[in-house]
Order: sequence, then C-alpha cells, then structure tokens
Amino acid sequence: MKIDNLLKQLTTKEKIGQLLQLAPFYFDIDLKAEVAGRIRSLNIDREGIFMSGSVLGISNASEMIKVQQKYLDINKHKIPLMFMADIIHGYETIFPVPIALASSFNPLIAFQTARISAIEASTAGIHVTFSPMADLSRDPRWGRVVESFGEDPYLAGVFSAQMVKGYQNEGIEKIGNLAACVKHFAAYGASEAGRDYNTVDVSKTALYNMYLKSYKTAIDAGAKMMMTAFNVLDGVPATINKYLLRTVLRDQWKSDAVTISDYDSLKQVLDHGCAENEKDAAYRAIQAGLDIEMASVCYVNYLEELIDEGIVDIKKLDEAVLRVLQLKKDLGLFEDSFKGASIDREKELVRSKEHLKISKKVALESAVLLKNEQTLPLNKKQKIALIGPYAKSKSTNGPWSWHGKIEHNLSLEEVFSNNNINLTFVSDAENIDQLSQQNITQIEASEVVVLALGEDARLSGEAHSRSDIKLPNHQDTLVKLARSLNKEVVVILFNGRPLDLSNIMDSNAILETWFLGSRATEAIFDLIYGHANPSGKLPMSFPRTVGQIPVYYNHLNTGRPLTDNNQNYEYLSRFLDVENTPLFSFGHGLSYASFKYSDLEISQIEFDIDTTLRLSINVTNESQIPGHEVVQLYIRDHVAKISRPVKELKKFKKIWLEGKQTQTVVFELDIHDLSYFDSNGNETYDSGKFTIMVGSNSQETLNIDIWLKGVKHDYQK
Ligand code: BGC
Repeated sequence: MKIDNLLKQLTTKEKIGQLLQLAPFYFDIDLKAEVAGRIRSLNIDREGIFMSGSVLGISNASEMIKVQQKYLDINKHKIPLMFMADIIHGYETIFPVPIALASSFNPLIAFQTARISAIEASTAGIHVTFSPMADLSRDPRWGRVVESFGEDPYLAGVFSAQMVKGYQNEGIEKIGNLAACVKHFAAYGASEAGRDYNTVDVSKTALYNMYLKSYKTAIDAGAKMMMTAFNVLDGVPATINKYLLRTVLRDQWKSDAVTISDYDSLKQVLDHGCAENEKDAAYRAIQAGLDIEMASVCYVNYLEELIDEGIVDIKKLDEAVLRVLQLKKDLGLFEDSFKGASIDREKELVRSKEHLKISKKVALESAVLLKNEQTLPLNKKQKIALIGPYAKSKSTNGPWSWHGKIEHNLSLEEVFSNNNINLTFVSDAENIDQLSQQNITQIEASEVVVLALGEDARLSGEAHSRSDIKLPNHQDTLVKLARSLNKEVVVILFNGRPLDLSNIMDSNAILETWFLGSRATEAIFDLIYGHANPSGKLPMSFPRTVGQIPVYYNHLNTGRPLTDNNQNYEYLSRFLDVENTPLFSFGHGLSYASFKYSDLEISQIEFDIDTTLRLSINVTNESQIPGHEVVQLYIRDHVAKISRPVKELKKFKKIWLEGKQTQTVVFELDIHDLSYFDSNGNETYDSGKFTIMVGSNSQETLNIDIWLKGVKHDYQK
C-alpha cells in the first residue's frame, strides 16, 4: 500500500475524516436511537462517521470485528479503522497501578506487564494503548498520581520507556503488540493545588530539567503516538501549543509520533478562552501540529472551510493525514484490518494462569514496607483480628482497569481463611463508631490487629482530587482503639496516592500496597507472613501534612536553606509548625533483611567531559533473610548557571542478596548524567564540584565529591 497514492485519491473531506476519533457506539446500529442524540450534539452525519479514522475503546473481539466490518462495507476507500483504548495496568489480568509498579524499582517488571497487557488487549483487536502516562507528579492531592510513576524524572522516564518497549516489542506490525501513546504532553502533573485540569505554570528550566524528561525518554524508546494534555502551558492550551507540538516534539526531539488531543480537549480551548469558536480552535490546532482530534468535531466541521478560504494550507492537513495513514500501515492494518481480533485467542490468552502468576510476582515487588517495629512478618500461630474497609473487599484493581473484573479477586478475609489463620474477629468497619462492645471483646481476644485501611478506588484517578489526604471516615480511630487495647497493630494500606499518615504513626507496622491488581491479597499475605520479603521503594514522598505540598526530594537549595548547623537562626526557608522533610521520602522502603553499604569508590576524582566515571560500592545483607535491595545513586551539581536540585536520582540497580552475602555494585556515569538543560532546551554543564551519593534511599547515603575540569565559567573567559 502506497499511502502517498492513497492520499491523492482522497477528497479534503475524506482526509479530514482520518483525523477524527469517535467512540464505538457511533458505528453500532443497535445503539442507533442513543447515538442519534450524540451525533446531533456533535453535529456529525452518518457520512462523516463512516469517514472517521479511529475508535476510542472497544470491549472485545466480536465488537471490534462487527464495527470494522460495517465500517469497511461503507467506507469508499476501505481504509481500516484504528482501535485505541486505555490499557493502563493490564487488560483483564490486572497488574499493580503505575505508582505501585514504579515502587518496584524494577524496570523489567514494567516491560513484562506491558507485554502481557499488549498480548491480552490485542485479542480484542485493540491497536493502540493510551499508555504510558509519563506525567511527573509532585502533588498527592492530584488523583492521577495513581497513574503516574511519581516525582522523579529519571525513574518515570525509565518506566515509561520500558512500558513503550513492552507494548511495541519487536514491531507494531506483529500480532500481539500494540502501539504506545505517551501522555499527557505536557506537564499535566503540575496542575495548581493538585486540582485536576487546573492551570499549569512552570518555568522553561523546570520544564526541560523535570517535566519533559520522561516524555522524551518514552519517545526515544520509539513511542508511536503522543497525547496532548488538558492544561495550558505558558498560557496556551497544550492541544494547540505550537511550541510543544512543533518546536519540542518535531524540531528538538525529531519525532514523527502521531499527536492526538485528549478527550474533547480541542473543544475545551474555547473554555480556556483561547479560541473564539470551533473554527478558530480548528485553525489553531492544525497550525500547532495536532493530528487527531478525540471526541470533538472542530476539524470535521471547519477544516475544509478554512482550507477553501485559503486560511489553512492543505499541506498542513496532508502532513497530519499522512502520519495517521503511515501508522495504520505500520500496524499492518491494510493487509489485515482485523489484526489480532480473535475470539479463540481471547479464550486462550486473556487472564491465563501464566499471566495471573506474573501479576502476583509483580505485586510482591510493588508493595512498600513503610514502617516495621519487628511486628512483621507475622507468625501463623498468632490470633488475628482483621478489621477495616478492605478486610472483606475485593476491590484491589484500582482506577483505569475497566476490563478487569473485581469479582475474580480474593478478599483478605478469604485469603486468611484459605490459609487457616486463626481469626478472632473480622469486620469491614471503617471506624470505632461502627464497632460494638462485643466486637471490642472479640478484638481483645486477638494478639495482633491487622487493619486493612485506605481510600476507595474512586477517590483517586481522573477528576478525583482531594484537598484532605488523610485516611477518610476517621479510619485512624481503629489504630487508636487497637493501641489502647495494647495490641500490636499492622496497617495494610490500599490507596492511589501518597497519604498524610501522621495520625496512624502509632501503628507498629505499615505496608503500603497501593492497588496491586488481580492477585493483590495473595501477595499481601505472602509479604506479611514472610513467605516473601518486601522490596518496594517510594516513587513519591509522603507529606507530614497537606500544608507541605508540594514536598519532593529533588528540590532546589534556596538562598536560605535549613541545615543541621543553623537550626536556631530565624530567617530560613522553613515552616514554623512542621519540619521541612516529608514523613517518608522518595526511595524509602524497608525489608526484613538489613543491608549495609560500604567501600564507595570512584575511578577518578577529577574528570573532563569525555570521561566515563566508574563507581563501585559493596552492599552486604547482614541478616540471614534473603531479599532484594534497590541500590540508588544520586548526584548533586554544586555550581551551575541555574540552581540545581540538592539531589537527583541518576542510576539504580535492584539486586538479590542471599543471607550474609555481599555484592559489589558498579555504576558508570558520563557527562550526560551530570549535565542539565538551559531554558532553550540545550544540554549544558559547568566546571566544579559534584557530589555522588549512593544508598538504600534518598536520605541515607555514602558520599564522594568529584570535580569537573576544563569548562570555563563566563567570568574566566
Ligand atoms: C484521559 C486520558 C484518556 C482519555 C481516553 C481522558 O479523559 O485524560 O488519559 O486516555 O480520556 O479515554
């Protein structure tokens, strides 16, 4: 198929159709009555529908086959529809939510879960997934942190890239692979106060050094599409932002990824006050470089008029349409328009035993042990009271798991019973007011109180921001009750964001499990009974109070930093009523083993821009318990033209250590690991001191100072 020739055969109207994405019900005759209203409201006729280029969301192979068949019967040029969907952390086999995946600090896991998601979703004839979400997230009030890889651009970049590689694998033309659409370009995670869709206002240096990095890493990994964000950037909505879509994406990053708006985000340009009407919006979008319009119809209704009036050059339209046709060609849809969709493959592959087994393995690595006063692991002989909103709940899939069915999951109560745990009391009470005196007597009969607490899955995700991020409905009263009864208290958290846990710090142990997916509770059981050793680390800081937000580890130093030596001085960058540090910092996570770091060595103390530095450190498991450890390497650039963070993650390695084993871990660093970007996006570096820090988390590290030589500062020229 020569797509240039195909393009020549298309009328302007047919070309524009390729840039429209509609939901499946527009094509399905059975839904005619309902569709009529929607079609009228979108002001699109039947002819327009059967010229559109792609579909948003599809439930299974038979639906896809039906829609594609009907479309091809009607569409004059037989250009197949491309089917896109939000396959975020699994299709029917559900994996941990992205923030949990990032907690594993194991990039292979991201690859593997994306692979399985692609294999399963492709059986429904899905071709593109709207994943990974590479948005850097520093504000836990924002509900979508659950879909993110957290507050660090390097970690988010590594995970986003691995997701892209897992989905696309050895080529999107092959059955079983999906094209990846990175989102939401750009800086959607910086919405003010964490309120979803809110204003974003970040500097160019923050953009290039923080927010853009993870999208770029995903694009460099070969992502085929990029979705725009709902927010403005420098005052201009991302969907019509020429700087983002042309200067950054095309000119600086040399990418030919197909761009797509977010859900009706082109029409929203009117609400932003940046277009007079839909015609104006269509004009601004095509000039800016937006290819596909999702779920609104500014292009379909006005682009032809703009071209006929000579306001828009048809070359702009052709460029966009060619990119869309090229993607269809790359996906192999001209040869096989039903590619992948197969009821037999669905039966064989979806939610297979093998996939579920991997889901559990991934869950085991994604939980984070936040606190442990040697209460965990539990002993099977102990009598347990199991209480809280997640004691009997199967809702462990989390947001964006629309194909996953929670009825397939097991509750904690079921898993405890299946393992013959002596349960003196089980209740899904959320707080002390829901317990009777008799209940309290039953709790008294236990030795350990396991509290399954958290946020309902609907409290995080899109459009689910919270201003108070404590546990809802006074769940902390359960901790207080159990402690007042002199019980050991283990809290198991189910939630989609870092929470303010200050009022449950009396508990003896806290295991953060986020939403671990299809096999969550079995994994949790293994972790709390010591059949597996926790190894997750936080990809995002947990604040002491909402007033500290945003609180993140890779902040700038300020001109009046608080240090160990100046605590008594008044005029410092600090709060009067709370410490500067978070409750749990980035990179924190405990193990049942204890690891010691020693002998940090570096190949040279002075280096130039061509040097590759080699670092080594010994990590010893001082305990008898085998386990994973995440060895983290941070740097600080002390002298630069712009202020640089006090710490930045540059490398990490997840290693396995048997009891009493020592391993020497080696890292290499070159100038690109030590450089930064100026406000035009140019990579740059300056002579002077750097500190390299290696450790088990972002706060406890062994450090070494090194010096970059040979680059003159301006004052020396
Ligand atoms: C979300 C996107 C998603 C899209 C399509 C939007 O509301 O912001 O992340 O991919 O819907 O479902």
